[in-house]
Amino acid sequence: MTNKFDINNTFDPDNENQAPKVSKEVATKLPTPAKGVDHYLRRTDTDPKAAKRAERQVAAFFGASSLFTLIFVVSFFAIPRETKIAVSLIGVTSAQNIVLGTSFGLAILFIGIGAIHWAKKLMPDVEMVQERKEMKPADEVQQEALDAFRVGATESGVGQRKLIRRSLLGALALFPLPFVVMLRDLGPAPKGELRKTAWQEDLHIVTDITYEKIRPEDIPVGNLISAMPENILEIQEEEGNLNERGKSAILLVRMRPEDIKSQQGPDWDYQGIVAYSKICTHVGCPIALYEQRTHHLLCPCHQSTFDLADSGQPIFGPAARRLPQLAITVDEEGYLVARQGFQEPIGPSFWERGA
Ligand code: FES
Repeated sequence: MTNKFDINNTFDPDNENQAPKVSKEVATKLPTPAKGVDHYLRRTDTDPKAAKRAERQVAAFFGASSLFTLIFVVSFFAIPRETKIAVSLIGVTSAQNIVLGTSFGLAILFIGIGAIHWAKKLMPDVEMVQERKEMKPADEVQQEALDAFRVGATESGVGQRKLIRRSLLGALALFPLPFVVMLRDLGPAPKGELRKTAWQEDLHIVTDITYEKIRPEDIPVGNLISAMPENILEIQEEEGNLNERGKSAILLVRMRPEDIKSQQGPDWDYQGIVAYSKICTHVGCPIALYEQRTHHLLCPCHQSTFDLADSGQPIFGPAARRLPQLAITVDEEGYLVARQGFQEPIGPSFWERGA
């Protein structure tokens, strides 16, 4: 048998070998095979054994997807979060994250490979033409779409190829599991955790990028600096994560002392320099858009606006709570230090409930 043939016939819904198993009415609406186009048969078109082998390969890919989904779920519970591994290019990182990311990625990949292999090896492979038609009334368009869907479902062979159908259903049924188990990461609420930050009495304030101590004269009136506690790198290394960096980030802003309308404690500024948490009290975005003239700080996420000259009160947007202020002063060498830790929880307001 030659593996090349010329299709010069039109679509014949009465031909058992050519017509998909749909009603005649639907079949007559099918596109017709392109005339005069050389067509090459695939091995799976002519050899039933090859077709069966391809079917098993597709099922194996879907099976591999199921396996990696199960590995994801088991790893989520079996690998302690604190376990670290060294990965080249990344360095020391969480073993759980690596395994979860890899297994989930492979689960998606194998579903994709299986579907492509199925389409390339087993689904009908005929060059078709379909004339463009005028736009029809909505009813007919809908009917055509429905017919096309039925034809597609029939052509895909999902009805006849039970092995593929079952393995695909199995893979798809397991696929939502990672999303379900990851819901566990939504809780428990941090409760007291957001009441604690690295800030404490006499801790130097350093710049976020260079970690240099800051003197008041380093901040001209109208300027804003992102800052951290001086021990942030040690804490990061000890804890192996960036949690404390996220919680302890602050902004230093200098304004004229006479512009300050109110503060969260008596004289919590130093010569007009005020320090506020950098974490928005709405849902926790980092903030750094400062308008010097009005002393307003704008959160880029949902436009909450805080007045830094007036205790960090929200004056616009969804944030319902003021930005926590950090009381500051200078040490005997003239470097800025914290006078104490934050006196209220930093971050989104809703965590405070029931804490
Ligand atoms: S997180 Fe800042 S306004 Fe929503």
